[in-house]
Amino acid sequence: MKSKVKNQIRLRRTKIRVGVIFGGRSAEHEVSLVSATSIINALDKNKYEIIQIGITKDNVWYSGDNVLERIKNKGYFNSDDSCYISPTSHTNAGLCVDGPKRPLTRFDVDVVFPVLHGMFGEDGTIQGLLELSGIPYVGAGVLGSAVGMDKVITKQLCENAGIPVAPYIWFLESEYKKNPKTIINLIEKKIKYPCFVKPANSGSSVGISKSKNRKSLVDAIKLALKHDRKILIEKSIENAMEIEISVLGNDEPTASVPGEIISSNEFYDYDAKYVDGKSQSIIPAKLPKEIANKIKEYALLGFRSIDCAGMARADFLVTKNNYKIYFNEINTIPGFTSISMYPKLWEASGLSYSKLLDKLIQLGLDRAKRNVKKDVHFTPMKEWHRK
Ligand SMILES: Nc1ncnc2c1ncn2[C@@H]1O[C@H](COP(=O)(O)OP(=O)(O)O)[C@@H](O)[C@H]1O
Ligand SMILES: [Mg+2]
Repeated sequence: MKSKVKNQIRLRRTKIRVGVIFGGRSAEHEVSLVSATSIINALDKNKYEIIQIGITKDNVWYSGDNVLERIKNKGYFNSDDSCYISPTSHTNAGLCVDGPKRPLTRFDVDVVFPVLHGMFGEDGTIQGLLELSGIPYVGAGVLGSAVGMDKVITKQLCENAGIPVAPYIWFLESEYKKNPKTIINLIEKKIKYPCFVKPANSGSSVGISKSKNRKSLVDAIKLALKHDRKILIEKSIENAMEIEISVLGNDEPTASVPGEIISSNEFYDYDAKYVDGKSQSIIPAKLPKEIANKIKEYALLGFRSIDCAGMARADFLVTKNNYKIYFNEINTIPGFTSISMYPKLWEASGLSYSKLLDKLIQLGLDRAKRNVKKDVHFTPMKEWHRK
């Protein structure tokens, strides 16, 4: 398409075209579908035109109306609904929908909202694709996403910034296979029981266990290794409040009020998060003012330390008897149903769910504009490379 024609089409369009991507290959596929349902329902239809982009568990991409419903209900897909995001800078860059029976259609998507949790969505991979294709997107960039996904690197960076974290060690599968006894001994000496065993890249508590003795530790490592080749072992912070806080913004972010999760299980596992419906939240959390302020400070510092953008939910463990604060993790694409903590904490801080979505979309657009301004080209004075 000639760029003049393209511009005219852009001018005629008054709504912002938002590509909402959901599903995906991670263990959190189902959670993503629930988050995307809330987002699609709440986006102001007077302001936004929504393009649904669904990714199946087998990594097939579809676009079109009702893709979300069809993925949820394992409905039928026509191969003409298949789509992809092209990273090249020629005229086909962007979201392309094509199929054997129809010509390629290219959509000018103004901004993408990746509502994907976990691997291949929250970890910088899709963000890399969007950077290459030049489509603005909501949330953290490649680095912030990749770092936020890896619990070990996140802890190292936060620790380095002076944020307290629970004592931990980490190891690779190959190291464990070679010398399991040494690693078990090290855990027993340095971390002790009870401890938490986590795949370094995980979410929704998938693959995470609490171990109280050697036998359960060995089983827990085996389970975690099914999900990742890198394992994190952490000292369990006992009798702790589970505190979450939402962060919003790009280079000058703000934090919401903190909230407390009362888990229905011994720890906040997958069932307690999504299935049994018995976990509760207290918003704002009942904390002394100075502790709430300190948590806010750590959340913003953590956000900065991983080079995050747009949004994140930072999670802490705070001991009940003396309010000792431990940073636990940061989620760059937190759960986003209307009853999820991220939007609920903003709601309690005076920002409604739909206003929050407006703000996030604007932050994504702002970030892309700012990046365009940076001169990434360098032309050497001499054409030395031709020699
Ligand atoms: N060091 C710890 N001490 C006490 N509880 C923990 C610790 N680490 C994790 N947990 C519990 O396990 C849950 C899941 O761990 P988390 O690191 O948040 O993983 P995920 O990314 O899957 O949410 C936490 O919400 C908390 O209930
Ligand atoms: Mg968590």
